[in-house]
Amino acid sequence: MIVCRSAAEIEKLARVNALVARVLKELAAAVRPGITTADLDAIAEQRLREAGAEPAFKGYHGYPATICASVNEEVVHGIPSPRALVEGDIISIDMGAKLDGFYGDSAVTVPVGAVSAEAQRLLDVTRTALERAVATVKAGARVSDIGAAVQSYVEAQGFSVVREFVGHGIGTSLHEEPQIPNYGTAGRGPRLAEGMALAIEPMVNAGKPAVKVLGDGWTAVTKDKALSAHFEHTVVVTEDGCRVLTLPPDAAFEDRVSA
Ligand code: MF3
Ligand code: CO
Repeated sequence: MIVCRSAAEIEKLARVNALVARVLKELAAAVRPGITTADLDAIAEQRLREAGAEPAFKGYHGYPATICASVNEEVVHGIPSPRALVEGDIISIDMGAKLDGFYGDSAVTVPVGAVSAEAQRLLDVTRTALERAVATVKAGARVSDIGAAVQSYVEAQGFSVVREFVGHGIGTSLHEEPQIPNYGTAGRGPRLAEGMALAIEPMVNAGKPAVKVLGDGWTAVTKDKALSAHFEHTVVVTEDGCRVLTLPPDAAFEDRVSA
């Protein structure tokens, strides 16, 4: 069953997802050559706990950290470590939080210093794939419209879509129904309805779609070792579209208040 949330529940989802977006923005801004993925994880956990929230991934099926930090050919679920980032890397930072009984989940992939033109294009295409996916969401649309939008755009750009991991419903659990693949034919699967909360998360490979999980039991990498990127928003379905709950705080507003 796919749950439709009340206005009060949606406000709780909005609060935790706004926190996730704010912390993710701070983490993205902290990315530079020399910082370690464990440093980013420590900032993330501190910021969530300061806000009265809990990391959602830590302890989830034994996952050991607050963020997933997936560098270069790592697709998702990279475990933070003393590995220092170097100029030219790309890093996906994925973070979930729980506040007042509700979950938030979002991911961004960012360049470390100057990156290759191909790496930058992969980031741009993956972010645009997420935007196109979000644009399909409205009451009455179908779950598979989301994946169809991702796959058609990504493949037209010469990249490939990961099949093994999917987006998901989200609410009082991190993962709820429905599963949201990033591929497929439009017009299939459950119909979306007002109040459904969805985490939409395309994973895009510069090479072939195949992935494998490393011996740590978590880190998914591309089999061909080509670069991979990942962006994720949590949204709530509305009558004529959706409300994106994980938009970063407005930079212009921050400039005004800090001026
Ligand atoms: N955003 C990912 C997801 O929704 C991250 C989960 S990491 C895990 O599946 F550790 F919680 F599994
Ligand atoms: Co997710």
